[in-house]
Amino acid sequence: MEKELQKLAREAKSALEKVSGAEDLETLRVTFLGRKGKITALIRSVGSLPPEERPRMGLAANRLKEELQADFDEAEKRLKQAEDRFRAREEAVDVTLPGLGFARGRRHPITAALDEVIDIFTGLGFFLESGPEIETEYYNFDALNIPSDHPARDMHDTLYLEDGRVLRTHTSPVQIRTMEKTRPPLRMICAGKAFRADTADASHSPMFHQLEGLMVDREVSLADLKGVLAVFARRLFGEDTRLRFRPSFFPFTEPSAEVDISCVVCGGSGCRLCSRRGWLEILGAGMVDPEVFKAVGYDPEEWTGFAFGMGIERIAMLKHGIDDIRLFYENDLRFLHQF
Ligand code: DAH
Repeated sequence: MEKELQKLAREAKSALEKVSGAEDLETLRVTFLGRKGKITALIRSVGSLPPEERPRMGLAANRLKEELQADFDEAEKRLKQAEDRFRAREEAVDVTLPGLGFARGRRHPITAALDEVIDIFTGLGFFLESGPEIETEYYNFDALNIPSDHPARDMHDTLYLEDGRVLRTHTSPVQIRTMEKTRPPLRMICAGKAFRADTADASHSPMFHQLEGLMVDREVSLADLKGVLAVFARRLFGEDTRLRFRPSFFPFTEPSAEVDISCVVCGGSGCRLCSRRGWLEILGAGMVDPEVFKAVGYDPEEWTGFAFGMGIERIAMLKHGIDDIRLFYENDLRFLHQF
């Protein structure tokens, strides 16, 4: 019995030294100190010893039990400390490290120009509409008073799909779609992409953006058109901006005008940007042609209206002094980061 006690003590201590985790430790505790464990069994067996040996062995066995209990507590504390140290190392935050910079996104200059122009017109009570980029010839041309034999069709360098539909050459078809579903009076704008079979150069791109506007009411006049466009031009380019209307032709407006603003660089005295003319063309406009009203079932005797359309790339180029439209589509970050 004496020997067994010593053997058990050695066994337990060497196992304890090798223990590497809380779970191991718990298993060991059950093995030695549990209700069915080895020490417990030993203490029980004291009862079967000869009576004169019992007090001494009982004492020795109980002492071993207490000693082991203390050893186990000690080991537990040791493991816990090791774990804490590990955690502290692993989860440490070095507050002296430099922060991680993250790249901030920004709007593309075309998107920003669109948003700005849209804001101005929605502020004037125009609601924002949209329409499909793939159009029928009817919406892109016929309903806008551009019949198939009309030379204006050639002006547009249309991209045709195999099924006869077209990539819209302008945003004007959205005027038609809006009038078809809306009773006058109305004030709408539409912003979006337009497409033409142009070879890209400094001022042409086969895909570009337009903003279209339309107002229909009783007794809308050219003066209303001038008023709205003047407010728009001043908000966008500054309070000193002046407007000039030049007679022009569009099949869907009569009369039609090309609208210039005083040069954003020289203010009108003449410089390189405006080719010494002092004026920059920014949009086309006019009074809605009665033929267009007839196409959508509006009575031209009752309703009048004005319409206008502008290229957003041109607006953005003037605002930022950009001289090549292709820069917008190259996605060169050195260019885009400047906005
Ligand atoms: N759709 C014309 C174009 O793409 C621009 C335009 C001119 C639109 C006059 C209009 C307008 O609504 O009244 O060249």
